[in-house]
Amino acid sequence: MRPARFSPTAQIFVCGNQRAADDPLTSACGANGAAVYDAVRKVVRERGLLSSVWVTRTGCLGQCPKDGCAVVLYPAGGQLLDVREGDASAVVELALRANPRNPSR
Ligand code: FES
Repeated sequence: MRPARFSPTAQIFVCGNQRAADDPLTSACGANGAAVYDAVRKVVRERGLLSSVWVTRTGCLGQCPKDGCAVVLYPAGGQLLDVREGDASAVVELALRANPRNPSR
């Protein structure tokens, strides 16, 4: 094991875990995660932050919301639920605003 040579200012994990429509843990992340991922990536790209803010698709983050999808912000902390495409700008803003590694904070 060795430490990475570089890491992003922020990393946004978007759950796109696929589950059957009748799964008691819900299929919301599977239904919404890809669209949220694409929308967040678009905001990051438009703001010229692709090298410093990484957006990563993940499996289950343990929250399993009934609407939208789950998102985790690193290292800012916090887990967001019921996230929809229209929340993309707010997600990026939260990832940067609450981030101790953001120099413009
Ligand atoms: S399926 Fe997305 S948090 Fe569990």
